[in-house]
Amino acid sequence: MTAILDGLTSLFIFVVGLIVLALIVLFFIDRYQTSDTVRRNYPVIGRMRYVLSDLGEFFRQYFFAMDREEMPFNRAQRDWVDDASKAKSTNVAFGSTRNLDPVGTPIFVNCPWPTLERDAVEAPAMLIGEGAARQPYLAPSLFNISGMSYGALSTPAVRALSNGAAKAGCWMNTGEGGLSPYHLEGGCDIVFQIGTAKYGVRDDDGNLSDAKLREVAAHEQVRMFELKLSQGAKPGKGGILPAEKVNEEIAEIRGIPVGEASISPNRHPDIGNTEELLDMIARIREVTGKPVGFKTVVGAYGWLEHLFEEVNRRGIHSAPDFITVDSGDGGTGAAPLPLIDNVGLTLQEALPMLVDLRDKAGLKDRIRIVASGKLVTPTDVAWALCAGADFTISARGFMFALGCIQSMKCNKNTCPTGITTHDKSLQRGLDPANKAVRVANFVKQMRKEVGVIAHSVGVTNPRAMKRYHVRLVCADGRSRPLDELYPAVGVQPD
Ligand SMILES: Cc1cc2nc3c(=O)[nH]c(=O)nc-3n(C[C@H](O)[C@H](O)[C@H](O)COP(=O)(O)O)c2cc1C
Repeated sequence: MTAILDGLTSLFIFVVGLIVLALIVLFFIDRYQTSDTVRRNYPVIGRMRYVLSDLGEFFRQYFFAMDREEMPFNRAQRDWVDDASKAKSTNVAFGSTRNLDPVGTPIFVNCPWPTLERDAVEAPAMLIGEGAARQPYLAPSLFNISGMSYGALSTPAVRALSNGAAKAGCWMNTGEGGLSPYHLEGGCDIVFQIGTAKYGVRDDDGNLSDAKLREVAAHEQVRMFELKLSQGAKPGKGGILPAEKVNEEIAEIRGIPVGEASISPNRHPDIGNTEELLDMIARIREVTGKPVGFKTVVGAYGWLEHLFEEVNRRGIHSAPDFITVDSGDGGTGAAPLPLIDNVGLTLQEALPMLVDLRDKAGLKDRIRIVASGKLVTPTDVAWALCAGADFTISARGFMFALGCIQSMKCNKNTCPTGITTHDKSLQRGLDPANKAVRVANFVKQMRKEVGVIAHSVGVTNPRAMKRYHVRLVCADGRSRPLDELYPAVGVQPD
């Protein structure tokens, strides 16, 4: 017994001695290094600042942040997606915790005679590319999955989205990383995105290859092609996939070297003006036979007027079959801070503006508008439909459905929920079969509750909502109807 106690005492003294020694070494390192002022002035103890600052990020989310406080998405929004995706009740008790005073808050205009359930119908499917593409696409869902590349997303995440989209009957956009077997696995409708590096459809020199386009289009599941001009989080900057994420499979699918950062050009080198954009759309549509559109974040908008004029000059068959308008505050796997924060108009401003420019040019029935950017709750989607969107999409909403906890580590390969990492031990937690069901539940609940808003404002289906059905809170504290703030161009048919 005494021998054991003696042994433990010696071990204790040894450990304490090691700690003291380590502290003395750290003291001298901190005192004599020149790069960090706090550590130089407060050796050892100054390190606590960084530890606590890192921990604060987690503690704020769990203990201190109020339900409506966090960015980019607050707890109330995340909880709604979580409940919807787990098929739990999304009802809440006692009263709203949402402050209705901030400028821009949408207030829907309830009708004294809401639509009876027996009269309510699903939003009808909508045709894209009619009269222009050999195989137009009858898109069944008004809510769909936005572009997130395989590479930015993990294998199980893409598998879950593909299977979930098939169950829900919505489309899934590949993002700019090319088409993987995991996109095809579930059998869902796919929108193939062509990014500035043309991953998945490039020849050896990085140019768009008609042969590769044909190969992709041969998959019946691939319903449309989307040229990515820009995305809200980084307008004017190409895609960034950090080197640690470029494994053999991703390199093979994209057609790039393994283990090197995958950085795409900040613009399509072969599209430098409106005419070249329309030529490229015509080429892809001709080669693939499928509808072709483009994705952009709106900043300067004179070019859109010119684009629509040029379409009318060439004939309406030359028009893009759809335009995806992304919000300036959109998400990404990785982007420079100034671009993610302050470049590009938000969807709230860009969407009605784009809809008006399209309608003014008489192209309402020809070009579909797909709205993107923080549309994660039924309120957001219903607002976008009122503003004139034909379809809505979400990226980060679907990440929440997959279990994302907003740890903001998409660029580090250390995503704790396995969604944006290629670390197999972290991917293990993400079961594609279970999460596919959640993805499908999220879409179904979204469509159902957008319907609830539509019925409350007195129309039979969500696509029948108009600008006068929603008011926005203005700086003077009063709300004004959206059709007064953005008078619709031409008559919106009822
Ligand atoms: C992890 C991640 C990867 C993304 N990858 C792409 C991409 O490859 N192509 C693209 O156009 N947008 C990409 N985006 C942007 C989204 O498609 C979307 O435009 C943006 O996040 C705004 O939508 P949200 O608010 O619903 O997330 C990505 C976003 C995230 C979060």
